[in-house]
Amino acid sequence: MSRLPYEKPTIIKHYTGLANKLGRGPSRRDLARIDGVSIDALIEQYGTPLFVFSEHTLRQKYRDTHRAFTLRYPKVQISWSYKTNYLDAVCQVFHDEGSWAEVVSEIEYGMARRLGVPGNRILFNGPYKPEESLRVAIKEGAHIHVDHYDELYLIERIAKELGTRIDVALRINMDTGILPRWDRFGFNLDNGEALDAIRRVHAGGHLGIEGLHTHIGTFMLDPAAYGRAAAKLAGLAKQVKETTGTPVKYLDFGGGFASRATLHAQYAPGTDASPPIDDYAEAITSALLAAGFPPSELPTLMLETGRAMVDEAGFMVSRVVGNKRLANGTRALVIDAGVNVLFTSFWYRHDVLPVHDRGGMMEETVVYGPLCMNIDVVRPSVLLPPLEPGDALVIRPVGAYNLTQSMQFIRLRPACVLIGENQQVDLIRAAEVLDDVKGPERLPARFQPKRAKKA
Ligand SMILES: Cc1ncc(COP(=O)(O)O)c(C=O)c1O
Repeated sequence: MSRLPYEKPTIIKHYTGLANKLGRGPSRRDLARIDGVSIDALIEQYGTPLFVFSEHTLRQKYRDTHRAFTLRYPKVQISWSYKTNYLDAVCQVFHDEGSWAEVVSEIEYGMARRLGVPGNRILFNGPYKPEESLRVAIKEGAHIHVDHYDELYLIERIAKELGTRIDVALRINMDTGILPRWDRFGFNLDNGEALDAIRRVHAGGHLGIEGLHTHIGTFMLDPAAYGRAAAKLAGLAKQVKETTGTPVKYLDFGGGFASRATLHAQYAPGTDASPPIDDYAEAITSALLAAGFPPSELPTLMLETGRAMVDEAGFMVSRVVGNKRLANGTRALVIDAGVNVLFTSFWYRHDVLPVHDRGGMMEETVVYGPLCMNIDVVRPSVLLPPLEPGDALVIRPVGAYNLTQSMQFIRLRPACVLIGENQQVDLIRAAEVLDDVKGPERLPARFQPKRAKKA
């Protein structure tokens, strides 16, 4: 009898899904439909990877946010943060709900204008606004949020040259008791720089101050930080009135509310750990109402919410391309969507759910994307049942930032579809083709491939 070769044993921990003292295991093992639409049907028509957005969730999130604030404060305006997701269809859903646009670059400004958003409904943020774009935005009545002194001097120069007075908002940073402290954008409140800037603007005589803006961070899990920001910004607004004699029209609290995604380091899932939107609304509005503005001078509460309104509306549909076992016995899957289009995988433990659960024991699995890059890990560890090449998976929530921060590295960016309220499915971005990548390139004539000479 010949001896069989030695095979190292692999010990696999099995999960039954029963409750333990810390709660239950994942409560669902599969997801076959999004807003009632069969994912199999979507794959059949559009292939994978595929971004799927839910119009119902977009509208619901907008309405929840708007309602939470308007219930508590009489003057509220939401401006959709383009950088979070600037698919035209997504922006248009928010504009349709009443949202203005918040943009941070000249191309985002152009995107909003192309969608028909008038200049006076655009908030123009960002540390670099090229002069040409500032001139256009000023002409069109956009709300310019000044980031630093050099930008202030530039706008002042433009105002002098045009012989007009330009109203601007100042971007302010401050200590709100959270770390890391975001102090690279705007003027610092705590060291007096913000008040100096206000005095400087007033003394210049060419600019007015229509608003104050602060964006204290992103995925902020502590609503109380917004309460502190609101109290401080309201205090500064009073100093604007004292200095210039004119009350500010708006106080803008930027974005930063947490979606229900789960950070890698977080113990509880985001669905339990992220504060409800009402907690943020309560913190901001009670600080503003307590600030004692005369009713006729009550500033509009401006918001530039991004992530919290779009993240859960976005899904990535992907397919398994291979199974493997790592040297230490860990089960691994390779799927056709990686960090090129799921950039937020670096920070968040996204749900990864099979479209069909064919049964079998759940096993801790590392989920790799298709990139030839070691860091292409979609989930370092997730419980999954056995899956075969071709089996589909859904990754969620991925509506925020993944598309705008996607990179075209060795693969083409996928198609995006929107599921409408009536389950109508529309293609809102076609899958890229090779020409989209190579189209802008020019190959010097001397490098043109030599054609084989005809015999
Ligand atoms: C100025 C400004 N406003 C709004 C946002 C949107 O933030 P979030 O997606 O965290 O709501 C950002 C994002 O970084 C921002 O820089």
